[in-house]
Amino acid sequence: MRSVAKLALATFTLAAGVSGAMSAGLQDFAAVERGRYLTNAADCGSCHTVPGSDRPFSGGRPIETPFGVLVAPNITPDRETGIGAWTDEELEAALRKGVRRDGKWLYPAMPFPYFARMTQEDVKDIRAYLSTVEPVHNPVPVNQLPFPLNQRVAMTVWDRLYFTPGEFMVQSDKSEQWNRGAYLVEGPGHCGACHTPKTFLGGDKSDKRLQGYTLQGWVAPDITSGQGPLAEWSADDLAQYLKTGHNRFAAAAGLMGEVVELSTSKLSEDDVKAMAVYLKNQSGPKPAADSSADSHVLAAGGAIYQDLCSSCHKSDGSGVPDLIPNLAKAATVNMGDPTTVLRVVLQGAQSVATDKEPTGPAMPAFGWQLNDAQVAAVATYVRNHWGKAPPVSEDQAKKERAQLDTRTN
Ligand code: HEC
Ligand code: HEC
Ligand code: HEC
Repeated sequence: MRSVAKLALATFTLAAGVSGAMSAGLQDFAAVERGRYLTNAADCGSCHTVPGSDRPFSGGRPIETPFGVLVAPNITPDRETGIGAWTDEELEAALRKGVRRDGKWLYPAMPFPYFARMTQEDVKDIRAYLSTVEPVHNPVPVNQLPFPLNQRVAMTVWDRLYFTPGEFMVQSDKSEQWNRGAYLVEGPGHCGACHTPKTFLGGDKSDKRLQGYTLQGWVAPDITSGQGPLAEWSADDLAQYLKTGHNRFAAAAGLMGEVVELSTSKLSEDDVKAMAVYLKNQSGPKPAADSSADSHVLAAGGAIYQDLCSSCHKSDGSGVPDLIPNLAKAATVNMGDPTTVLRVVLQGAQSVATDKEPTGPAMPAFGWQLNDAQVAAVATYVRNHWGKAPPVSEDQAKKERAQLDTRTN
């Protein structure tokens, strides 16, 4: 009898041990998967990986800021040059408070003011996922800013001015879907890092949230529902754009193409829809009054357009749904700032590749073929013929061309 009881007890303990380990294993698995999802939502890999490199998260990508270039550090689990030796608390301080391991401040090129909206649990899960990636030994000299900006102590002031700590708070008068969207947009998605106008110190102008900003030669348009593209897009149009990089109005290129490819296309249908619902609910300024262009310039621009552009974008600017953008409606074309139009005409654009559409159609470069006056004329035509965006001067075309020539990425 006794031995049977003992045996039974032993079996029981063994079973408990196994199921304990198993449920711990399942829990770990769930944390890693949740962390992987959040790491995509937060697009950590885009800055912390050199584009095209097969060593994800190993750092070394230069990040252009208004003040100079910072190089994103190695966040693989390598103990010496990555974050392998960091405690969970240290990682949380970096992500949610902008504090480095040595106690100094991080620059906001690392979007911690947004990541602060994530919870402690979120950061733990991100850690769990990052612990599963391959450790890479890669020391990265991060700070290449000129004096005095290279003095991290300057960030103390910045921090007081622009950083509000504290995780995302649910607004109980809004739907669960709205709140999920708000969390993703304002937290891990850090959409405002590019779409919110900045002060001269690079802080967000909080009274102009998501109302558009120009960075690295790209215009990140107003994404409130006031005057940007979203004034006309439905929530479904927006969800489709975030999921696939295309919709009936626009195709994502450049910085946004990368955001779609590496981040939003990897989120669930429910989550991109939630972001769309939240953004459609953000009000913004209404369009500015009309402005007209010189009729000779318009005529010259129209001729160039028919000759070089209409084969793809169509004579009426309507393009081809999901393939060639509708220029008559594109927000990037019809906004006050002509930077994007000039850049695209001079340099061309490759739209984003996603799992569904592996090679997006490309826009050829015309910079080699058109002089500054011609670029300005065709840009003026596409902005002013169907819409009412201000004309573009030869000088603006010249400046943009010079900028593109000096830009490395
Ligand atoms: C927009 C670009 C960008 C994104 C997105 C980004 N980072 Fe960073 N990160 C940086 C830059 C640049 C630095 C260096 C800032 C500094 O040293 O002041 C940095 C610093 C860090 C540091 C501090 C490392 C050290 O050695 O001090 C950690 C940890 C980190 N990032 C983790 C993450 C994680 C995790 C994510 C996703 C949740 C993420 N980052 C997303 C650009 C980015
Ligand atoms: C790294 C900077 C960056 C981040 C982060 C970013 N965007 Fe963008 N976004 C841009 C740029 C630049 C454009 C213009 C793209 C173009 O010209 O094709 C753009 C375009 C868009 C457009 C469409 C504009 C149009 O009419 O073609 C939408 C909608 C949008 N972004 C939403 C978002 C959302 C939602 C997020 C957060 C998940 C986000 N963006 C994060 C830079 C960014
Ligand atoms: C071979 C076909 C083709 C021709 C010719 C062409 N385009 Fe495009 N264009 C495209 C495609 C494809 C895109 C989308 C690329 C992307 O994803 O941003 C695009 C994008 C654009 C955009 C950006 C729209 C947006 O939503 O951000 C502008 C502006 C533009 N083209 C203007 C022109 C002008 C002006 C000409 C003539 C000088 C021209 N295109 C000729 C195919 C073409």
